[in-house]
Amino acid sequence: MTRLAIVTGASSGIGEATALRLAREADLRVVLVARREDRLRALAERIGRGASYVAVDLTAADAPARVREHAEGLGDPLGLLVNNAGAAWRATFADGGYENVRRTMEVNFDAVLRLTEALLPLLRAAAPSAIVNVASTAGRVARGGTGAYSASKFALAGWSDSLYLEEAPNGVHVGLVLPGFIATEGFPQSELRAKALTRRMVSTPEKGAEAIVAAGLGRKPERYVPRPYGIAAALRVVAPGLVRRVLGGGGAQVMTTRTGADAADER
Ligand SMILES: NC(=O)c1ccc[n+]([C@@H]2O[C@H](COP(=O)([O-])OP(=O)(O)OC[C@H]3O[C@@H](n4cnc5c(N)ncnc54)[C@H](OP(=O)(O)O)[C@@H]3O)[C@@H](O)[C@H]2O)c1
Repeated sequence: MTRLAIVTGASSGIGEATALRLAREADLRVVLVARREDRLRALAERIGRGASYVAVDLTAADAPARVREHAEGLGDPLGLLVNNAGAAWRATFADGGYENVRRTMEVNFDAVLRLTEALLPLLRAAAPSAIVNVASTAGRVARGGTGAYSASKFALAGWSDSLYLEEAPNGVHVGLVLPGFIATEGFPQSELRAKALTRRMVSTPEKGAEAIVAAGLGRKPERYVPRPYGIAAALRVVAPGLVRRVLGGGGAQVMTTRTGADAADER
């Protein structure tokens, strides 16, 4: 039987790669969600096989209802929800203040919860089904200058861990994907890619998509991508002083990235 797979943030980067990867599964029909309609239309046409899209700002009040109505209108059960849409605006707290935290939480956390709340009844009805939340290694290890982003991803990771336990008895698997550095439009990782020493730290959207498939269709609870980034998260727990020294003593400089904010502002 055909099942729906909803992918948010499907207009670029990891979400686009995920939609293309999921489209290779014979029993899945993908639903693309993001704001840029021209991108979504072109991708749906490229995929074919009944792919469709909802062009919506996920922070809008009516966004969850619009996505749910679209899914219900298609008539197939909802097998997979990939909460991937996200953004970052780089700023210290002294510069960006609460407003930067608020707008980041709105996209990376609140919008995910609101969409999941609207779709959970459909996922339960279609169980066994799955949710994949795309957080970040920054949701386990924080760096200077990205506090708002880390706060949103820490929140998302914590909520996902809890939802995993709550929904397991209902047959709704909750997988968490924590990317490290992946070169995309919103997160170009230009500085890391420019240096031979750090180039190999940067992965591809396709690798991100494979991790999402493993966490969703493969029902893995948690995936770092690339996998060695899990070591940073483990070190943060067992050797926090060492991690602070590395990040505070030049590591933060090495890992400085241009984030979604800059790209979003240029759009
Ligand atoms: N790349 C990395 O290094 C990295 C590392 C860790 C975590 N992540 C996470 O991976 C996810 C995907 O990021 P990416 O690297 O693929 O970046 P990206 O290429 O900038 O993609 C972000 C996607 O989110 C969508 N989006 C942003 N705000 C939205 C809104 N208000 N409503 C609807 N859609 C919205 C964008 O589409 P529209 O602009 O068309 O709306 C776009 O499709 C994000 O959650 C990000 O935090 C990425």
